[in-house]
Amino acid sequence: MQVNIAKKVAADKAATFIQPGMTIGLGTGSTAYYVIMRIGEMVKDGLEIRAVATSVESEQLAKAQGIPIVPFSEISGIDIDIDGADETDEQLRLIKGGGGALLREKIVAAASGRMIVIADESKLVQQLGKFPLPVEIIPFAHELTMRKLEQLQAAPALRTRDGKLFVTDNGNYIADCHFGEIAAPEKLHAQLNDIPGVVENGLFIGLASTLIIGTDAGEVRMYGRQD
Ligand code: A5P
Repeated sequence: MQVNIAKKVAADKAATFIQPGMTIGLGTGSTAYYVIMRIGEMVKDGLEIRAVATSVESEQLAKAQGIPIVPFSEISGIDIDIDGADETDEQLRLIKGGGGALLREKIVAAASGRMIVIADESKLVQQLGKFPLPVEIIPFAHELTMRKLEQLQAAPALRTRDGKLFVTDNGNYIADCHFGEIAAPEKLHAQLNDIPGVVENGLFIGLASTLIIGTDAGEVRMYGRQD
């Protein structure tokens, strides 16, 4: 696999914030892949940490790298969650869920003392919304939920994969919503989660405290909390 330098340097920088004894949240996606690989190296070198994963895919990858994955019943909190994003603005408001893991990602982010977001430069935008906003909906009467989304001018499309409806790790569907530029993400977040049938939406607001942007030249820029 060809290494994506921008994603890798962002991930490597994020891993420097990990201290022995911490419980780490592992994100999902092609950028989170690099941080899981880096943490795997650190564990092989003797770092003692525990981790929880935001998807079956990340859990399997982490276990294959020798990272101890523990059940949620065994942790009292998560020190740092490191995850990617589909879009981020400079206020660290995010769109997530391109890989379909937004619900577990949001649960883990909300339970973490600190969420560090890692991304390449293409993810940093002036205004959120070019990337279709993923909304997780339950299969029951999803046609009615889709109509509610249409009434919000979401132009929703049920996500498919290999010609079949995409099903999340939680057994739900994803409606990809095309709002165009999202001028008021906080308001939209509330409107979406008010719809019965919507489990969660991919707007992450007030959750990330540090953003690490990697560049193709191998540099990193940090936004938010730096220490
Ligand atoms: C998974 O559901 C997503 O939220 C990912 O974290 C996000 O899509 C970023 O993925 P990439 O790092 O693959 O772009």
